[in-house]
Amino acid sequence: MGKVALITGVTGQDGSYLTELLLAKGYAVHGMMRRASVFTTERIDHLYQDRHEGDVRLRLHYGDLLDAISVRRIISEVKPDEVYNLAAQSHVRTSFDQPVYTAEVVSIGTVHLLEAIRDYRDSTGKEVRFYQASSSEMFGKVRETPQTEYTPFYPRSPYACAKVHAHWQTVNYREAYGLFACNGILFNHESPRRGETFVTRKITRAAARIKFGLQDRLFLGNLDAKRDWGFAGDYVDAMWRMLQQEDPDDYVVATGESCSVREFLDEAFSSLDLDWHDCVEIDPRYLRPTEVDVLLGDASKARDILGWKPTLTMRQLCRMMVDADLQLAEQERTLADASHLV
Ligand code: NAP
Ligand code: GDD
Repeated sequence: MGKVALITGVTGQDGSYLTELLLAKGYAVHGMMRRASVFTTERIDHLYQDRHEGDVRLRLHYGDLLDAISVRRIISEVKPDEVYNLAAQSHVRTSFDQPVYTAEVVSIGTVHLLEAIRDYRDSTGKEVRFYQASSSEMFGKVRETPQTEYTPFYPRSPYACAKVHAHWQTVNYREAYGLFACNGILFNHESPRRGETFVTRKITRAAARIKFGLQDRLFLGNLDAKRDWGFAGDYVDAMWRMLQQEDPDDYVVATGESCSVREFLDEAFSSLDLDWHDCVEIDPRYLRPTEVDVLLGDASKARDILGWKPTLTMRQLCRMMVDADLQLAEQERTLADASHLV
């Protein structure tokens, strides 16, 4: 029998790529999702299409990291071999507006999950392997460059503070209770499925819409920030590899190259023969009270122990995102033209 995985945050960018990966490896995948007044499964709908054919290997369960009882119930129903905790209020700027909510979901929510797994393991004797989505944001005002597993944390946002708490709880459950628990300290990773309010997707979506005459301005914040940007499809593979090792540990996952928001803008707009200086305006609403200026990761440990390496450069990633957003913009243009004909 194949393994059983539970993914929290299954409707998010990483949740969708990880679901694809695990289904391809023969896992039965269970996803925890929140109830909302609109559909939130757009990123995984294509994986759900075989549901009438008997062999249903993706099942969704309503639950919320804030609702400890729902988390416990899902663990005992699903009986997972592996749990990937990807759920989060993951937007850094928003975390300044909602610091308490962010802390509750990101840190207390993770403890709900760890406690549920520990009790389930203790009452059944079944080992459950746990992956925690830690973040390069924890390095914040960086203490050294590049950042490794040994670089001290200096979080610069409510989101990053909450992730530091969840990170150390994960280490503590490993050391105190012998849980097989790993932190993946992932640097920024993007894709055509990236949420539209994160800067890379905001840029590629706007560039494509500007090309099709669907918008004329793009409002951004700090263009000088630098990030180590990789492809989300590569990064979920690193998550899986961590849980296949003999011993649990923590790993940095990064490309080892850092680019500024300005460079990403250049790449996206020039690929469409556009000049971003004609359309971009700086809007102070998108600045942060405290900024993370430069992130650059050293993923040597992941390369040596997990055999992991990134497959796309920032430029290739940017082109992939622009191409996908061009298709969306073209569809939008066609719809707009059709509605004028009616
Ligand atoms: P994302 O697209 O924002 O997805 C977040 C997911 O969490 C969504 O499925 C969301 O559900 C769910 N969620 C939010 N609050 C929840 C709650 N209270 N209970 C249950 N589910 C909840 O994020 P992502 O980019 O895929 O990132 C995945 C994880 O990696 C996050 O923990 C993020 O903080 C972390 N991370 C991301 C990056 C990156 O560059 N992408 C880097 C390092 C770490 P809805 O669909 O209902 O909103
Ligand atoms: N979102 C956004 N919107 N960011 C902007 C904008 C804008 O209009 N203009 C400039 N930026 C700058 C931000 O100030 C930041 O320095 C950089 O672009 C990247 O912002 P985001 O794309 O929002 O990502 P992030 O680095 O803050 O956080 C992402 O990566 C983390 C890993 O380092 C998120 O995915 C986090 O969940 C993740 O942990």
